[in-house]
Amino acid sequence: MNGQPAVSASAPGKMIILGEHSVVYGKPAVALAINRRFYCRVSRSGEMILNGRRVPAFVHPHISSVINDNGLSGISMDAGTQIPTSSGLGSSAALSSSLSLAVRKLLGRDTDQESIAKDAFNAEWNAQGRASPIDTSTCTHGGGVALNCPVGIGRELWRISKNDRSWNVSEFDVPEMTFVVGHTGIKAPTGPLVEKVRKYRDSNTFAAEIVDEIANITLEGMERMKQDDRVGLGSLMTKNHKLLSILGVSCPQLNKLVECSLPYSYGAKLTGSGGGGCMIALTDHPDKVARAITLHGGTPYIVNTGVPGVQVDVKKTK
Ligand code: MEV
Repeated sequence: MNGQPAVSASAPGKMIILGEHSVVYGKPAVALAINRRFYCRVSRSGEMILNGRRVPAFVHPHISSVINDNGLSGISMDAGTQIPTSSGLGSSAALSSSLSLAVRKLLGRDTDQESIAKDAFNAEWNAQGRASPIDTSTCTHGGGVALNCPVGIGRELWRISKNDRSWNVSEFDVPEMTFVVGHTGIKAPTGPLVEKVRKYRDSNTFAAEIVDEIANITLEGMERMKQDDRVGLGSLMTKNHKLLSILGVSCPQLNKLVECSLPYSYGAKLTGSGGGGCMIALTDHPDKVARAITLHGGTPYIVNTGVPGVQVDVKKTK
């Protein structure tokens, strides 16, 4: 880098099991961190340097939000990722969370998870125009994270509010479950999809009822997960996919990958904002699901869950 002291950090991607889009309106959601990570290494700089090249400060809204929140106008940042971008797997949340930790450590500021999750949520909000903290809190904390879950499901971590919305963020013990992610290969940025749902919900009571119904099945799914009832959880995931399709955020490729996974799965659904990106299937037959996804034009990843959240990567920090 530039000879300055440097800090390396990484954060995992995530997959939403139930509740995307509805969670933007203060409703519940549940997500798991996955074993694909975003890595960054930062050192002080008067200007914005990304992977060795000088770039305008505003070039990446998540980066500028995190560094501005920490009182900087520039940083030298090397970045690498195992998380496909604009795919519903939390690549921008993992970027924001790992960058926040690295910058805070470099500046000697607090590095508790709550401060990092709040920096990362601000970045997501500024970039998307509207957001919930499900992605950023999951990428920060790791493991399993539930928003606005009932008492008895999780242990409260922190609370995040924005305008008239607020979310209680909790962690929960992740049961043994196998998921396959299927990537359509279609990039679909989150902001426009969140805006599409907002317009539909604001102008149509049927859409508002669908958002409420997603909240109901998300609460039921949390109970099923706690009881290790995969059959029940899977059927709620498939129902959630149908409701998201009615909201207009699925697409033919996502529907195809969901359909072809169902014969070998407890349930399947799109994950994240939709419009392309990825779907997930809960299964005891990951190889069969992966083969079906490949045969139908997708790229499968058999993912591990229960992975750690944001962390300083000590070996790479000097
Ligand atoms: C995107 O991963 C999840 C959405 O619910 C947006 C958000 O919660 O910020 C669609």
